[in-house]
Amino acid sequence: MANDEWRTPPALFAVLNARHRFTVDVAATGANTLCARFITAEQDAFVTPWGCGDDVAWCNPPYSNGLIPAFLRRGIDEIAEGHIREVVCLIRADVSTRYWHELVLPFASEVLLPNGRVNFLTADGEADRGSGTKGARSPNFASAVVVIRRQSEGIDVPLVYGSVTYDRGKRYGDDEAPDRLPGDTAFRRRHGSRLQPRLALGLEAATD
Ligand SMILES: C[S@@+](CC[C@H](N)C(=O)[O-])C[C@H]1O[C@@H](n2cnc3c(N)ncnc32)[C@H](O)[C@@H]1O
Repeated sequence: MANDEWRTPPALFAVLNARHRFTVDVAATGANTLCARFITAEQDAFVTPWGCGDDVAWCNPPYSNGLIPAFLRRGIDEIAEGHIREVVCLIRADVSTRYWHELVLPFASEVLLPNGRVNFLTADGEADRGSGTKGARSPNFASAVVVIRRQSEGIDVPLVYGSVTYDRGKRYGDDEAPDRLPGDTAFRRRHGSRLQPRLALGLEAATD
């Protein structure tokens, strides 16, 4: 399927990488890897160990043939085996699926929701032309960033929801802050600080 090869937008990866410091891209080719160390289809992430202890894995899995749940399951196993400390997955935000209920909700430490559709790059690295424009490559589904990490024994950590904002270039004018969406200004003014997400990652994080 074509979107098996869709690449993560660099700005979204930069924001997440600034926070997580990924050491391995577990669904990659030599051409599209986002980390110096990576696992390809030939090496097979279901066979090759993802790390050797303290690794932090980036995973934008292929979306066809049940591969999203397969990569989630493999990531959970790799944490349990002690091969990695954490995996961050960019997946469909389809909360009606079994894998959201059996793999994401019971095992995730955080669910981060990108503000807007994720404008994936094409397999050859071409940039998206913007949602709603002719020839757009933005998907017709929402995405979520799911963080699954090793828990300290005996400590029950609640699931944290948050939002992640990054500059898509096409959607905002130069003088607009990336988190200003049309129409929400008056609402924000009325409700003030109650609108703050529990966890907010933004572009600033990438320049640290
Ligand atoms: C959606 S792309 C991700 C591209 C890029 N690494 C990124 O994060 O933006 C998924 C990649 O996983 C690779 N892949 C497919 N099956 C795999 C497997 N069993 N093990 C490792 N990588 C696999 C595909 O070749 C494809 O390049």
